[in-house]
Amino acid sequence: MYARLTGTGSYLPGTAVSNDDLAARGIDSNDEWIVSRTGIRSRFLAAPETTSSELGLVAAQRALDMAGVAASDIDLIIVATSTPDFIFPSTACLIQGRLGSSKGAAAFDVQAVCSGFVYALGIAEKFIRSGSHSKALVIGAEVFSRILDWNDRGTCVLFGDGAGAVVLEAAEEPGILTTAMHADGTQNGILNVPGQVCGGQVTGDPFLRMDGQAVFKFAVRVLAEVAEEVCVDAGIPTNAVEWLVPHQANIRIMEATAKKLGIDRDRVIITVDRHGNTSAASVPLALDEAVRDGRIRRGQRVLLEGVGGGFTWGAALLEF
Ligand code: UT7
Repeated sequence: MYARLTGTGSYLPGTAVSNDDLAARGIDSNDEWIVSRTGIRSRFLAAPETTSSELGLVAAQRALDMAGVAASDIDLIIVATSTPDFIFPSTACLIQGRLGSSKGAAAFDVQAVCSGFVYALGIAEKFIRSGSHSKALVIGAEVFSRILDWNDRGTCVLFGDGAGAVVLEAAEEPGILTTAMHADGTQNGILNVPGQVCGGQVTGDPFLRMDGQAVFKFAVRVLAEVAEEVCVDAGIPTNAVEWLVPHQANIRIMEATAKKLGIDRDRVIITVDRHGNTSAASVPLALDEAVRDGRIRRGQRVLLEGVGGGFTWGAALLEF
């Protein structure tokens, strides 16, 4: 028994906000710095009242449409998000409620920040391979604009909002070949939102804080390592991967990873230039774009990988 991707979908809120637009809003930065350091040219920012569940719902409906699967047939919903609508109920339950017809399906959120989608996919794959569930919705949905300190130019220009989703179904043919998930909690201090709600008030710091250079070095190392790990596990060389869909944080991280793996740049799916870093949504957003524009085709080997706060990292190697 394998778990196979049968549909993808995504959604970006509002209109693109360029680097010049941010500078015009008073952020002490400029297009030249942002493009040269990160490759980011624009991002989408949700309206203040728009939630992760709303973005995730549209992405999920699009994935269900592509798969030709009714919401009522879904028996597992996993949402990866660090910007849930509420402390509880989970964003997955809110999406299930709005999908309307999937009553009874297991639904829960996964918190692994920018690795969240890859973690959620690995979890769903294990549920399906065990035989306990047969049709899963795996969603990455974020409104990171809510947790950005717009006075911190070192972070606020990097992120955007959006959602991506896949439908995963039990199948006799591959399918996801192998997955890996890792964490190193000793590195929790280099990327975090160190706040909480306590006694009716926010305590600590409710904004995203990052040691950019430490994150950069960590990301380049573990993204190459975990890609090699899943390829060894599947018995293929890394350069036999037809498409690399990495977490979209910084074009320089993606290029360094692809170079280490011997994967040509034109086989790397890149959306960071237009989406910025959408955390758990970035991998399914990039995957959906490349599936819909015809680059990723049935039977091709695709490597998805993520890295994020925690620190967490992971990968999934699949035959699309
Ligand atoms: O999902 C994972 C999340 N995060 C990442 O993957 C981020 C990984 N890290 C990075 O992408 C890079 O470290 C950054 C893009 C965040 C920063 O690039 P950097 O080359 O490491 O720059 P830096 O932090 O060393 O800063 C260099 C200079 C500083 O000025 P001084 O001290 O040299 O005068 C900063 O104040 O750039 C300045 N700077 C900016 N200037 C204009 C920092 N942010 C900005 C900005 N616009 N937005």
